Amino acid sequence: MRKIGVRLGSNSYNIHIGLGLLMQTGHLLKENGFAGKLVIITNPIVKRLYGSALKQNLAKEGFKVTVLQVPDGEEQKSLEVAARLYTDLSDLYCERTTPILALGGGVIGDLTGFVAATYMRGVPLIQIPTTLLAQVDSSIGGKVALDHGQLKNRIGAFYQPRLVISDISTLRTLPTKEFIGGLAEVIKYAVIRDKEFFAYLERNLDQIKSLDERLLEEIVYRSSQIKAEIVEKDEKDLGLRNILNYGHTVGHAIESASDFKMGHGKAVALGMLAAGRISNTLGLLDRNELIRLKGIIQRADLATELPNLEVGRIVQAIRHDKKVLRGKLRFILPKALGSVFITDEVSLSLVEQVLVNWNEET
Ligand code: NAD
Ligand code: GLY
Repeated sequence: MRKIGVRLGSNSYNIHIGLGLLMQTGHLLKENGFAGKLVIITNPIVKRLYGSALKQNLAKEGFKVTVLQVPDGEEQKSLEVAARLYTDLSDLYCERTTPILALGGGVIGDLTGFVAATYMRGVPLIQIPTTLLAQVDSSIGGKVALDHGQLKNRIGAFYQPRLVISDISTLRTLPTKEFIGGLAEVIKYAVIRDKEFFAYLERNLDQIKSLDERLLEEIVYRSSQIKAEIVEKDEKDLGLRNILNYGHTVGHAIESASDFKMGHGKAVALGMLAAGRISNTLGLLDRNELIRLKGIIQRADLATELPNLEVGRIVQAIRHDKKVLRGKLRFILPKALGSVFITDEVSLSLVEQVLVNWNEET
């Protein structure tokens, strides 16, 4: 088992990463001072796979466990679902000290996190992420949120968990599409912060895709370390933390222009490549590094071809985001593999040029 400390003063916590950690959850909770009653929030898919093993482990360690379920899917990140969970927690006589465990992917983590942040003004939150995206991204850093109609993550808070337990073994059952989507975020960490990690991914990608557990542990560990380091420096997302949005400016626009038919990971991969091409056009990112960026995205089975969408629709979606951001189009551009910078100086016409010439570019 490997451990990363997230140092945020009185909100500090540890991330535990390893194989079979679900079976050590009771022990880890006791070590962190928890005892007695607790509640797990999960969905039917994850409950069927891991619910009873986790419950048994916690019961064996003396915890009194209740499992609450919400259906699977992004639409569960709503105030209505949160309200139902508040009622359930009240009916169970949960107190301010009763921990709530989020067992699942980013949807369960964000919803449970929001409920934990607001029920009785905040109860202890334990994140037990079971998707690659949740292990390397959403369980770390305290962003918890619900959607508001079509507006994703519009209602939320910063509320740090008390503990994150990433059991690498749970990734074995993940649908390939979800695993590949998570890989986009792993590649993102390498590009924004660590060129050696990028080279490591290049060397080991085939084994990573075949779910070699030793390598999975390493990529979750390294990605979590990078996220933790950035969150420690800018918990409230006022500056540096923006770099985690690398690939997301064009990525979000493609996702929304495709009416969310294109998955988040693939859209972010296209966004990362678009930002790389913009940077190369501006004379910053070297052509060989741009080729390496495209290569790894391709080998990860993420997208490098634009979907069959009119470029105009994508540009319109970017323009819409620009309005929301009070006229500033924020880009995270790679200067080199392992190093990015934040800029508001990329013009919409340059983005359009890169998209129009997509098929002729590196
Ligand atoms: P998800 O939670 O929808 O999980 C994807 C699918 O995998 C679901 O069907 C889920 O039931 C299933 N699943 C989960 N674990 C499994 C396992 N081990 N085996 C088999 N199936 C499993 O999607 P996600 O990609 O994990 O998370 C996406 C959400 O995360 C979005 O709502 C997004 O807004 C949010 N997010 C939040 C942050 C943050 O900082 N809070 C960061 C990134 C994304
Ligand atoms: N996923 C972006 C962030 O945590 O800031």
